[in-house]
Amino acid sequence: MARVATCVPGEPLDAALRTAADLTVVGPEVPLVAGVVDAFRARGLRIVGPNAEAARLEGSKVFAKDFFQQRGIPTAAYTVVEDASHARMALGRFGFPVVLKADGLAAGKGVVVAHNAAEAEAALGTLNGRLVIEEFLTGEEVSFIALCDGRDALPLAASQDHKAVFDGDQGPNTGGMGAYCAAGILSEADTQMVMERVIYPTVEAMNFTGFLYAGLMITRDGPKVLEFNVRLGDPETQPLMHRMESDFVPALVAASEGKLAGQKLAWHAGPSVCVVLASAGYPGAYETGKEIRGLEMAEAKGATVFHAGTRVAHGRLETSGGRVLGVTASGADLPAAIAAAYEGVNHIEFAGVHYRRDIASKGLR
Ligand code: AMP
Ligand code: GLY
Repeated sequence: MARVATCVPGEPLDAALRTAADLTVVGPEVPLVAGVVDAFRARGLRIVGPNAEAARLEGSKVFAKDFFQQRGIPTAAYTVVEDASHARMALGRFGFPVVLKADGLAAGKGVVVAHNAAEAEAALGTLNGRLVIEEFLTGEEVSFIALCDGRDALPLAASQDHKAVFDGDQGPNTGGMGAYCAAGILSEADTQMVMERVIYPTVEAMNFTGFLYAGLMITRDGPKVLEFNVRLGDPETQPLMHRMESDFVPALVAASEGKLAGQKLAWHAGPSVCVVLASAGYPGAYETGKEIRGLEMAEAKGATVFHAGTRVAHGRLETSGGRVLGVTASGADLPAAIAAAYEGVNHIEFAGVHYRRDIASKGLR
């Protein structure tokens, strides 16, 4: 961020007051769940995000599932269990595969798809406390994000994340190994259905403000909601921003003022692709402090390199996290966008780097 902005240390509210910020847009879920939006509004400051009550839609899977059920929002059949022994009793009713979800925030690592009793038992060893157990759904996953102002909602282009660590959606789930954004990821009819049955009922029920992110499974019976996030997705946002043709700021200001009605967003015709470069071992244990090289060359070739887990130390750029960089590029069509993103990737190196080689390849079929 330091390359394109001035970074301000400290608590968000203090920082906004000190810098006389005109508008604050909240990125991560933790401050939203902790009530940062409520605190800003109490001081009369403009902010884009949901209040703490609405942020529970991401902060608690049980709260979200109960909300879906009450509002008739299409989702997988589920039950809530308080501990492992209740979980074992409930598992018998679902068969395999089955999905187990920890209730609270887990940085993308609180969900296990168990294919048999042994995997379910192993999951019960790692997921503690209250769980949602739910029906396993099959289909394509789509990330659908709408900007909301408490009354109206403006959908962003649909995108697709790649959550599993290895090619072909193999291996454990991560925070996201890549994403792409292209016209036609969600049909016109499904887009309308999701707005009418998922987004608007939620905006209305909660006076929802900020980004409402529906993680969807497009099943044979139509779209069903796997989860809500209450923020822009990572890594979906990288290709979304690359593909957005409009200036985003007027829409954000309008959302913060309850004036979204009539706002529009234009998108480039060509798709955008983001490939995440991760540290060796991620999503398990990994080392940090590896020197990163080649960013200038990647950017000179047309990619935008978003930093996730990097730091400047020892007079050089180093890795500081599991997901390190999001190499993002656009093209006239999907093959061109994929080629441009991997061209950028090929110029970057750090010890142990690993990444998926099949980001956006589903879109080619
Ligand atoms: P969530 O955090 O609820 O989106 O779950 C993380 C990932 O687990 C999703 O992106 C899916 O790949 C998978 N998943 C979650 N729920 C289900 C389900 N009911 N059926 C199949 N896969 C699921
Ligand atoms: N891409 C999913 C997330 O941001 O949680």
